[in-house]
Amino acid sequence: MHSDTSKTSIGGIGRDRIAELRETEGAAFRKARPQSQARAGNGLPGFFGGVPMHWMNDWPTPFPILVDSAKGATITDIDGIRLDDFCLGDTGSMFGHSPPPVARAIRRQAGRGLTYMLPSEDALAIGPLLQQRFGLPFWQIATTATDANRFVLRVARAITGREKILVFNGCYHGSVDETMVRLIDGKPVNRPGLAGEFRDLTRTAKVIEFNDVSALEAALRDKDVACVIAEPVLTNSCMVLADPGFHDALRKLTRQAGTLLLIDETHTISTGPGGYTRKYGLEPDFFVLGKPIAGGVPASVWGMSDDVASRYADYNRTKEPGYSGMGTTLSANPLQFAAMRATLEEVMTEGNYDRMDHLARRLDAGLTGVIDRYRLPWHVSRVGARVEFICAPGPLRNGAEAELAHAPELEAAIHVALVNRGVLIAPFHNMMLISPATSGAQVNRLITAFGAVAAKLAA
Ligand SMILES: Cc1ncc(COP(=O)(O)O)c(C=O)c1O
Repeated sequence: MHSDTSKTSIGGIGRDRIAELRETEGAAFRKARPQSQARAGNGLPGFFGGVPMHWMNDWPTPFPILVDSAKGATITDIDGIRLDDFCLGDTGSMFGHSPPPVARAIRRQAGRGLTYMLPSEDALAIGPLLQQRFGLPFWQIATTATDANRFVLRVARAITGREKILVFNGCYHGSVDETMVRLIDGKPVNRPGLAGEFRDLTRTAKVIEFNDVSALEAALRDKDVACVIAEPVLTNSCMVLADPGFHDALRKLTRQAGTLLLIDETHTISTGPGGYTRKYGLEPDFFVLGKPIAGGVPASVWGMSDDVASRYADYNRTKEPGYSGMGTTLSANPLQFAAMRATLEEVMTEGNYDRMDHLARRLDAGLTGVIDRYRLPWHVSRVGARVEFICAPGPLRNGAEAELAHAPELEAAIHVALVNRGVLIAPFHNMMLISPATSGAQVNRLITAFGAVAAKLAA
């Protein structure tokens, strides 16, 4: 859809102009980085595809930026170029690079053992911290949000005795196989591009559009869905906010159908210290948070309600003995606990969130001002400290609209042009995060850079 080469313009901008911008900005990027080009311009030696993790090839720059160091909301490459970082490791460093309390906790733990398969004293503090902050009584620790989601789905199926799950079109919950489905022309299919997937995933996963209450009602009617897995806002396509009343309907209908509700807050934790869940009073059966929960040290948490916990305990009493299918060896290690405790106690504070929210509003208003000034058919969407400009009119209501709004060629040209003006935003969509370390001056520079790029495109 979005790669339709018959169109002469994308997002209101002529294809020729986009191609020209990409070309000139690509050349400027190379010229500014002789060291990086010499050492990594043709790929990093020894790595398949020239990168240690294949997503690194998704950056639109001619080659990935080779980082020397990062601190706060600034990243410095090996050519000594400093960038205002609004990507922040695609949320892994949402609270800034090496937040000082986390760096101190890591240093303290470094000489005391890094993984034991036993709890540490910090673990005694973490359980109550999670209970108080997120409002659910029972928790487990994993290492990635992907794993936390996988484990929740397993528990949900175990205690409901139902095989099916339900996801929203355009979702991403990590590399959880069974969520990899899409609606294409209204028909459920395996997500295009999956490597080595022979199974028909639509056999066990239903997929409907976000904000579609009647489709939800119909999909839950047969009472065969164990769990709905949902982000409160779709953040992994162009950002789609929930309609007023959608979350109430989701909760009511899942309860009526005996279906459990997993709210995945891995990205929407940008909303506030207790996530979207606390701010908007959602009442999930399960809650998942990964990425920034330990300030950049790999860790995730999954929580469950009293009711789920007692059903799970009953299930465990009757299930045949043997491996549960959950757990990875390095999970719940003392380094994770140390970093998580510092993040929860000293970084994810009300004060920091107030600051992040204030600057995110400024960014939202500044970008909207630029879009209005150049009469671009674009809009800005935001959930707390997470801001996105979308190169199509809005607001978007579901995954299908979000897919149509995505403009990869145009977005790639803009991203490289922003890097050349000192600003890094996420390679996926046009996502920008405000951290507690982000300054007002950095936000102003981003707005100015965006204005300069918009002026070039609209000229
Ligand atoms: C909402 C959501 N859940 C889960 C994940 C998976 O996180 P991880 O890659 O750390 O497993 C992501 C990753 O982008 C995500 O956006």
